[in-house]
Amino acid sequence: PTIYAITPTYSRPVQKAELTRLANTFRQVAQLHWILVEDAAGRSELVSRFLARAGLPSTHLHVPTPRRYKRPGLPRATEQRNAGLAWLRQTHRHEPQRPQPGVLFFADDDNTYSLELFQEMRTTRKVSVWPVGLVGGRRYERPLVENGKVVGWYTGWRADRPFAIDMAGFAVSLQVILSNPKAVFKRRGSQPGMQESDFLKQITTVEELEPKANNCTKVLVWHTRTEKVNLANEPKYHLDTVKIEV
Ligand code: UGA
Ligand code: MN
Repeated sequence: PTIYAITPTYSRPVQKAELTRLANTFRQVAQLHWILVEDAAGRSELVSRFLARAGLPSTHLHVPTPRRYKRPGLPRATEQRNAGLAWLRQTHRHEPQRPQPGVLFFADDDNTYSLELFQEMRTTRKVSVWPVGLVGGRRYERPLVENGKVVGWYTGWRADRPFAIDMAGFAVSLQVILSNPKAVFKRRGSQPGMQESDFLKQITTVEELEPKANNCTKVLVWHTRTEKVNLANEPKYHLDTVKIEV
């Protein structure tokens, strides 16, 4: 199966560095299609140029987050992930019942992904799950597994979540995406940290989840976050003498 990675991304000083790390990982994965969705009114020069040289099968989308949703404490990238889902459904509209084999996962641009993770998720039948490192106020969060089934969640944060899992902790088969055409990320009523649960509720149940990474005992992805860069010494008026691609 093809692995579709939906990556929301937005303009900031570290953007190209993040995308470079991500592309360097993805380039080593067979049959990966990168759906890069810019949080912007249009496709930027920077990302267009970057993708053209990335050497990866890719689709370049964009949708701006409405200004009223750009506030601390509100979920991020809702519209961008939905744009990726809409593209997938549109692209496979002629094969809704028996699509080409495919697996979708949500790959934020700042996380760290091991190559083993892709081997694990490629065998997803419906919805698969695995541990995520450096998240939930702990070294890792993970689904608790008994007799091959998910029976609960090891988490330090809001253990009452129906699916106490980060966006980086699951994959969904294309078949499931197409047979649940209305499943999307919702702004209305979605509290921070509940996006994953609100989405997964629409397409699966806890009982149905397929544990990966040796019954969820191995961390293969890390919710790393990049430090805000210090540009205190950036000149305000004087520009460099030649044009620099940053
Ligand atoms: C956590 C989760 O890991 C995210 O999956 C979730 O979207 C997010 O919380 C949330 O609050 O909604 P965190 O590291 O705090 O992640 O979030 P970011 O990495 O800053 O953003 C998640 C993704 O959205 C990234 O790919 C980022 O590039 C993108 N993003 C962020 C935008 O497209 N626009 C923004 O304004 C901010
Ligand atoms: Mn992040």
